[in-house]
Amino acid sequence: MCGIVGYIGWQDAAPVLLKGLKRLEYRGYDSAGIALLNGTLSVMKQKGSVSGLETDTLAFRKETPGATMGVGHTRWATHGEPSDRNAHPHLNTAGDIAVIHNGIIENYSALKQELISQDYVFVSETDSEVLVHLIDRIWKSEPSLDLETVTRSALRHVEGAYGLCVISSREPDKIVVARKGSPLVIGIGIGEFFIASDAAPIIEHTNKVVYLSDGELAVVTREGYSIKTIENVEQEKIVTELDFSLEKIEKGGFEHFMLKEIFEQPAVMHDVMRGRVRLEEGRLCLGGIEDYLDRLKQAKRIIICACGTSWHAGLIGEYLIEEFARIPVEVDYASEFRYRNPIVGVDDVVIVISQSGETADTLAALRTAKEKGALVMGICNVVGSTIARETLCGMYTHAGPEIGVASTKAFTAQVIMLYMLALALSKGRTISSDEIVLHLKELVTIPEKAARILELDSQIKSIAERFKDAKNFLYLGRGYNFPVALEGALKLKEISYIHAEGYPAAEMKHGPIALIDEDMPVIIIATRDNTYSKILSNIEEVRSRKGRVIAIANDGDQEISRLAEHVIYIPQASGPITPLLTVIPLQLLAYHIATLRGCNVDRPRNLAKSVTVE
Ligand code: G6P
Repeated sequence: MCGIVGYIGWQDAAPVLLKGLKRLEYRGYDSAGIALLNGTLSVMKQKGSVSGLETDTLAFRKETPGATMGVGHTRWATHGEPSDRNAHPHLNTAGDIAVIHNGIIENYSALKQELISQDYVFVSETDSEVLVHLIDRIWKSEPSLDLETVTRSALRHVEGAYGLCVISSREPDKIVVARKGSPLVIGIGIGEFFIASDAAPIIEHTNKVVYLSDGELAVVTREGYSIKTIENVEQEKIVTELDFSLEKIEKGGFEHFMLKEIFEQPAVMHDVMRGRVRLEEGRLCLGGIEDYLDRLKQAKRIIICACGTSWHAGLIGEYLIEEFARIPVEVDYASEFRYRNPIVGVDDVVIVISQSGETADTLAALRTAKEKGALVMGICNVVGSTIARETLCGMYTHAGPEIGVASTKAFTAQVIMLYMLALALSKGRTISSDEIVLHLKELVTIPEKAARILELDSQIKSIAERFKDAKNFLYLGRGYNFPVALEGALKLKEISYIHAEGYPAAEMKHGPIALIDEDMPVIIIATRDNTYSKILSNIEEVRSRKGRVIAIANDGDQEISRLAEHVIYIPQASGPITPLLTVIPLQLLAYHIATLRGCNVDRPRNLAKSVTVE
């Protein structure tokens, strides 16, 4: 949700900022802008992508030669439509203070009325603009204060979430940065510093970073940085070394990040298991939770909270943990959990799952669970993210940076983590060590099977060609493949804008069957497991209403080819592990349908990769 970059150092700031914004564009891409400071403050901002801004800034940059500091923003609209006016940075009326902001100022309306009554003129419809006028008002009333102090005072009036950068020509050699709820990282170079919403724009310059925590404010100059709380208490921060390379966040010959990330899955699966699945020793080593494993095993109940694709992984986690570890599991949308006054206590374990580790609702669910005394564990992909830091224990998925807005490799990585967790929770309780070894032996075969599914890419593309103009899709699955049906439908919706619904196959007769006719493609996951015969009946039910069946089935299943119009054959795997394979053809199908329809799969309309607002 909105990308923030800042630079102060010795390089020409504009290209650094623009390149940084491009790396953050997955966070929001409806408008973009930069402010450069070189004696005077100059702003260029407009509706549209960063590339558009880059082209149009050529002249602007000539007007502001040699600026070696500035800030940039790429927006995901919350308050006010995408437009030039609503794009950030926002300026005060005198044009000597600029603010970029990620998050939502919840009391902006009251603040705005107050400022308007004091003759402040607003040029945008955004909540963010109140920040710059608030800073201006405080500075006017006490001109002897410095930028840091006025920003700190202004933030005391603000309710809501922010990650922000403030610069001013009145104090030209500093960037004031603050965070509450929206992530910010400072990159440490030599004689130069970078600020960004996440590490992606920073990695090509330095691998040394400091993550700001909620309620912290930093002043960054060419000489260094200082970090204090909003209450003005100095903070000692640890410098973290990033462990991913630039190559990992580039497309590497693929047409889109999403396709690259789908194809990365076999390698990611290896990475997730590396060092954790110790087949030769017949055990799992889950470092991030080892000290808490006994407490986790004693949980009366596990509640999994997440959003979007991570929530689907959570549903699979429920099936896995209940089946293997026999601990009752509930799965909740984080946004529902946090507001429904849930009954949670010290006997409960709450597992939050988040690729980004920054999703606002998931973070709030985590905090609610903590307040109520539950043991809170995280499964996150982004190292050092807020959720990762605020959970008591947890595991990183190690899927590498995921740039495509629609999650793919992070999902399979989450499912593997949950599979390993379920086995770890069962050990010594519900399944024998020998059985665990058998499960692990199967798990390590999955990357190679996933690679074989990727070889079906052209077959899946030709199926996509036939169905790309459909108006609706239905996805059906049972058991472990029910959440996969949900995920398949979500992928298609997100990137192709075709309406799609996922359903447990048996529930079809309670509603969706009414929709089935010759125009309705129905994707049915029909792998051989304990519900196989039931799924065959569901296929018959669809066929008899002229629905067009595309089946995902196991290699060698002749019966399916008799029933379905198209069959995508995938390698056999046992039920609990099958989602890791069945989801891959669905990702590819969604990808091809979307690209054939001319959609921008990496940046689908209205979506954002990291949803840091409620
Ligand atoms: C957004 C993204 C989804 C993601 C969801 C949860 O909606 O577009 O791809 O699944 O947020 O994100 P998280 O980072 O918490 O997994």
